[in-house]
Parts: sequence; C-alpha cells; structure tokens
Amino acid sequence: MLKRIAVLVSGGGTNLEALFAAQESGRIPHGEIVLVVSGTAGAYAVERAKSHGVSAVTLPRKELGQTGFEEALSNQLMDARVDLIVLAGFLSILSADFVSSWPDRIVNIHPSLIPAFCGKGFYGLHVHEAALARGVKVTGATVHLVNEIPDGGRILLQKAVEILPGDTAETLQHRVMEQAEWVLLPQAVEQLCEQLAQEERRDR
Ligand code: GAR
Repeated sequence: MLKRIAVLVSGGGTNLEALFAAQESGRIPHGEIVLVVSGTAGAYAVERAKSHGVSAVTLPRKELGQTGFEEALSNQLMDARVDLIVLAGFLSILSADFVSSWPDRIVNIHPSLIPAFCGKGFYGLHVHEAALARGVKVTGATVHLVNEIPDGGRILLQKAVEILPGDTAETLQHRVMEQAEWVLLPQAVEQLCEQLAQEERRDR
C-alpha cells in the first residue's frame, strides 16, 4: 500500500514542488502526496498543489490559534487517512502534544547543518543571515524527524553546501535549496515511506 503523505507549508512551496517533481518522475514509489495544508492565508504553495491536482486547504494558524489550528489539522489528516507528515517550509511550531501523537511520522527540512543555526528564531532567510554573519565557509541542509520541540529528532539526511565570496542571504538560500533541500527532501520521504511499507508487511 502506498503511504499517504500530507505536506505542511507556509509560503512559496519550492520544496513542495520538488516533492511533486519526484513523485511524478517515479522517485517516490512507496508514497503518494494526498493533501497539502497551509498554515498561512495566500501561500503560493496552495496554487502549486492545485496545479498538480492535489487537495489543498488553508488553516490560518494566526486566526485559529494553536489549539484550533491543531484540531482542524488533525481532522484533515484523519479524513485523508494520512500516514506521514512532511514539513516543507512550514514555519509555525507544532505543540509537544501534537508531535507526540505522530511518533517518527513527522519529517522536517531545515536550511543548515543541524546543530548549527537551529532552534528559536532560526527559520527561512534568518538562518542564512546568521551563517553569513558568523562567517562559516560551509553550510547546508538537514532533513530530520520531529519527535521533540523545537529541532529534536533523528537526523535522516544532511548535505553540505559551500558559501561563496559575495553571497547574500538570498543567493545562499537559493544555492542551499538547489544543491541540498530539493535533492534531500524527496530522498528522505521515499526512505521513510519504504520503511513504513516494510513495517506494515511485517505486522500483517
Ligand atoms: C526553506 O528554505 C526551508 O528549508 C525553510 O523555509 C524555506 C521554505 O521554502 N524552513 C525552515 O526554515 C524551517 N525551520 P519553500 O516554501 O520554497 O519550500
């Protein structure tokens, strides 16, 4: 059985697009993206989902509050019979209660080599600004399981990316996405789907 994947997003959704590209070219043979959930109104990622024929819902986290958002999210996940949650540029924090009800079933991508530049306040462009301010010569991306808040959980994949003279946060973000995030996230998602499919066969 294909593992059913929900992707949570907040913004542009280029990582979501990388997942669609992987799925459509047969690189996620054990999984299927069945639902996209945006925590912010007007996220372009929702348009991307629609253009790939995948259901997308917006649950405005700010209006709903943490509890309201997570209740609505849980209902959506249950209705869509989701097995695995992928945080693909989802920039809100999920509560410890929510996370603990999905053990080893939530995957996150973070634009640095964890444990560098992670934790409170480190999201999106801020991560790259901090890397440049510190003067590190190598950064990268990390895909990890989310089992504890904020950035706990086993690391699945990491890839290093060189910082070049003259980089701005924007040029660095783009290189990290192109060389690391868009490559690693589909690989990690397939790994987990395959593992869940194997466990299902064993338990039958
Ligand atoms: C990505 O760089 C992702 O790694 C980062 O937000 C960006 C979203 O881009 N995530 C975090 O910072 C999580 N802490 P996208 O919407 O185009 O995929």
